[in-house]
Amino acid sequence: MLKPDAIQRSIAFELLSRFERRGLRFTALRLLKVDRAMAEKHYAVHKGKFFYDDLVKVITASPVVAAVVEGPNAIAVVRSMVGSTRPQEATEGSIRGDYALVGLRNLVHASDAPETAATEIKLWFPDGVVEYTRDIDRWTSEDKAPS
Ligand code: CDP
Ligand code: MG
Repeated sequence: MLKPDAIQRSIAFELLSRFERRGLRFTALRLLKVDRAMAEKHYAVHKGKFFYDDLVKVITASPVVAAVVEGPNAIAVVRSMVGSTRPQEATEGSIRGDYALVGLRNLVHASDAPETAATEIKLWFPDGVVEYTRDIDRWTSEDKAPS
């Protein structure tokens, strides 16, 4: 999910294109304004933490872009492309390492496990995603040669 700062800074599609270029397949995409109830569900795991109130405020302030990408090792690949939570620790080449300065404005949320991804996909895309494969996936995604 691209947080409001990505849209405000006019780099939303620039960031999305990184995931596309990596070879991942977009199966859902949506621009929406997040209300408090949705923000609380999405960040339920952080409730009670010192940054929670700020996080909810930031995420509900302005529209976000929610997206689902699929591909081999998608969760690990996306997390690595996004970089460390604290941008000052994020490596150059990662989104946060290239574009962000502080944790609250770190541009992207990325699911951290298959279970959280499944819950988050249901929350953001209650009507489901578009299941398909591209012909190119054979060239970018197969980890062994065809027999
Ligand atoms: O987004 P990520 O999975 O890397 O981090 P998280 O631990 O799940 O925290 C969610 C979000 O809360 C972060 O992306 C930050 O925007 C914010 N946060 C913060 O502002 N200060 C912290 N010490 C920890 C998290
Ligand atoms: Mg997280």
